[in-house]
Amino acid sequence: MHGNRILLIIGGGIAAYKSLELIRRLKERGHTVRAILTKAGAEFVTPLSLAALSGERVFQDLFSLTDESEMGHIQLSRAADLVVLAPATADLMAKMAGGHANDLASTALLATDKPVLMAPAMNVRMWNSPATQRNRATLERDGVAFVGPNEGEMACGEFGPGRMAEPDEIVAAIETLLAAPGPLAGMSALVTAGPTHEPLDPVRYIANRSSGRQGYAIAGALAEAGADTMLVSGPVAIAAPPRVKLVQVETAREMLAACESALPVDVAVCAAAVADWRPEAMANQKIKKNAAHSALKLTANPDILRTLSQGAQRPSLVVGFAAETENVIAHAQEKRLAKGCDWIVANDVSPVTGVMGGANNTVHLITAKGVENWPELDKGEVGRRLAARIAQALKTSAA
Ligand code: C5P
Repeated sequence: MHGNRILLIIGGGIAAYKSLELIRRLKERGHTVRAILTKAGAEFVTPLSLAALSGERVFQDLFSLTDESEMGHIQLSRAADLVVLAPATADLMAKMAGGHANDLASTALLATDKPVLMAPAMNVRMWNSPATQRNRATLERDGVAFVGPNEGEMACGEFGPGRMAEPDEIVAAIETLLAAPGPLAGMSALVTAGPTHEPLDPVRYIANRSSGRQGYAIAGALAEAGADTMLVSGPVAIAAPPRVKLVQVETAREMLAACESALPVDVAVCAAAVADWRPEAMANQKIKKNAAHSALKLTANPDILRTLSQGAQRPSLVVGFAAETENVIAHAQEKRLAKGCDWIVANDVSPVTGVMGGANNTVHLITAKGVENWPELDKGEVGRRLAARIAQALKTSAA
């Protein structure tokens, strides 16, 4: 891969010397590198060596008249395909996670809409500290990619994770991030996942055993394939995959509202285990155990899959799920017609299968053309295969 524009931010760490080598390797591979050197970074490498290696001028100062008139902080990130922080110090991570903008590097980071790759380098205790780990998790949620840190002997004499990744590893991570756009680039996707919670009173609710894992895996695979992906999720205990926009809801009605506000989209995948019923009324106070409640009055919830399939802004492709415990395929075929969706992913969720909450799934893809029986796969692989099939179908319908 050649010819990408990298904005390299060099923080203050002893590993900064490796960034000189990183610039050399990137140049050898045909990329252009423009460097921002932080004040602390300038204690470890000189602007002169960076300018000599990159063949570009080096940017250091947010308030420099010459820097700002020739290439402002917004323009610096706009003119790049990827922003790389190497070494990414604990301070740079904290600044980006907190949205600070008090020097050129943090301002460029806050202003960028380009992919960001961090190669952290710091003392092992600093890396392991709750604050840095909290910042790492925040940055990952915001879509920042990481390479390293590696484990090893450190400049301070300690041993553990904290060493910056080697220049070759950083080059490989950069090129993976810049790889050709996925088959769903330019498309938008909506995925529902998880259970819904339907409140009875302020402390009790009706729910089900859905873990959200299959829906999350599908959203992750669609995003990985390049789709702009929104995941509308009921309450689950798992983290959102990278690059997915997460909207958390509790009830079926909230889920429907979130889905409708995401329209129009090219594809919708309804993997949520939406409660079909909700208590007719939610008690404002906790229901007392001696209250005479022999029967629970329920009322039907909206059917999100049917609403999306039959709505005015129908996505080009609508995929539903059918979790069944018997006659899986026949029930799923009926469901495809009844709901008006294009495909149904059918699976057997009898307790013996271990699908509910488990890592694997055995599904049948039911389309207008017939039934495909997929082998038992882990839920990640089911997601990737489904994303590939979706890409194929959308390409054919667009052609
Ligand atoms: O009718 P049933 O619940 O078996 O249909 C399952 C499919 O319909 C799943 O795709 C599920 O996400 C969707 N569904 C929905 N809203 C409901 C009930 C089911 O979107 N209220």
